[in-house]
Amino acid sequence: MSDHLHLNLFTMASVEHVSPGSWRYPGDRSADYADREYWTEVARTAERGGFDAVFFADVRGIYDVYGDDRETAVERAVQTPANDPQLVVPAMAEVTDDIGFAVTRSTTYNHPYQLAREFSTLDHLTDGRVAINVVTSYLESAAANLGLDERMDKETRYDRADEFLDVCYQLWEESWEDDAVEADRETGRYSDPEKVHAIDHEGEHFSVPGPHGCEPSPQRTPVVYQAGSSDYGRSFAARNAEAVFASQPTEEGVVEYMTDVKSRAADAGRDPESLRFFIGVVPIVGETRELAEAKYAEYKRHVDVEATLALLSGFLDMDLSELDPDQKVEHIETDAIQGTMNAFTKAQPDREWTVREVAEFCGLGTTSPKLVGTPEQVADELQHWHEEVGVHGFNVKEVVRPDSLVDFVDLVVPELRERGLVPPTDAEPPGETLRERLLGEGQSRLRADHPARQ
Ligand SMILES: Cc1cc2nc3c(=O)[nH]c(=O)nc-3n(C[C@H](O)[C@H](O)[C@H](O)COP(=O)(O)O)c2cc1C
Repeated sequence: MSDHLHLNLFTMASVEHVSPGSWRYPGDRSADYADREYWTEVARTAERGGFDAVFFADVRGIYDVYGDDRETAVERAVQTPANDPQLVVPAMAEVTDDIGFAVTRSTTYNHPYQLAREFSTLDHLTDGRVAINVVTSYLESAAANLGLDERMDKETRYDRADEFLDVCYQLWEESWEDDAVEADRETGRYSDPEKVHAIDHEGEHFSVPGPHGCEPSPQRTPVVYQAGSSDYGRSFAARNAEAVFASQPTEEGVVEYMTDVKSRAADAGRDPESLRFFIGVVPIVGETRELAEAKYAEYKRHVDVEATLALLSGFLDMDLSELDPDQKVEHIETDAIQGTMNAFTKAQPDREWTVREVAEFCGLGTTSPKLVGTPEQVADELQHWHEEVGVHGFNVKEVVRPDSLVDFVDLVVPELRERGLVPPTDAEPPGETLRERLLGEGQSRLRADHPARQ
């Protein structure tokens, strides 16, 4: 694979994202998550490190599955409190030029007409540097707060998500023609009414006549990120996603996932090679192997196992407080996040995991591999995943914030640049938009084979 590799910083506008307990680590600044200055610094550092995007996770609801109450989640800051990530983006865009911003939004608890407007606005304000990570949400407690009696089952959620994106695509792609805006001071005509169209969408979940309220933004449709791992989720990703996230911890699992999603993409009429696959990684870097190992040992010591169990209970929709920690994990089909379950069962059929082992492993970046070593060793592993396994990029997860990012940027990225895997600091980006960073120069719009344009 000749293309260079792609990097997202995977984070959350919260105290804890996916390394519960690490906020207590000396020097960790996670508790500054509500400061604008924290995020502008993160954006600058990630841009300096050649990252393509800062990718914000987001959840609705509270992690109250563990012990059947919210006590642990609240006490240990399990993804709560968390601010709305999309409101942080303009501040980060203001202090950067090239880096993109991916924001997670739920199709279960939003309305497409409203969301389309928010993303058009963000795409304008960032000069085309925005992506949407489309999720369907998994916590039961979200449903109650957002007007539903109970969480929709997964099939209904994905069904709604399909129609949701269909409405958004029509608003973003079809409502305003490219030359609809004239902005002619002489005639006083801003837009040509003949070139601004209704979409007249009447569906099972939504009725949206249109037209879209915003004029076309640089990318029109933001870059679509998705991470479905169930059967429905994989088909949804294959139809819609331009960047797809595999949550399998093993090479075989990732290869199986990519092959399957690519074949589903081909069935949907897309060029499967245009999809960009990412895996999560947790780099733990030191100048020497011993220093990296010592850091890893210290990080593990700070893992909050109970908070991790509360996080996983939400991911799996299963109260892990009821299980014996030394009990073996058995596969279940879940209406929450299937990928987390599969990571320890289907993806590793030859290894048995206990509940305690899963919690200790997941306490640092959940299911993602931990890459522990010198900058060269970490770069070797990334290069291996890229060149041998075939992933296009990585969601880099921090343990200590922002030190893990700074370590990666200052220690690993120079090594990746040496190897030609990350463009040099003085390289011109392939274009202004995030989509061009992912797909190449001139490709700021959705590809013609994407279902939204067919
Ligand atoms: C890298 C990655 C990031 C994700 N980020 C979020 C998120 O921020 N919010 C969320 O509600 N779900 C998130 N998910 C969950 C998935 O998008 C998906 O909704 C979930 O896996 C349930 O569907 P599935 O069983 O088809 O995978 C993420 C999953 C992965 C692998």
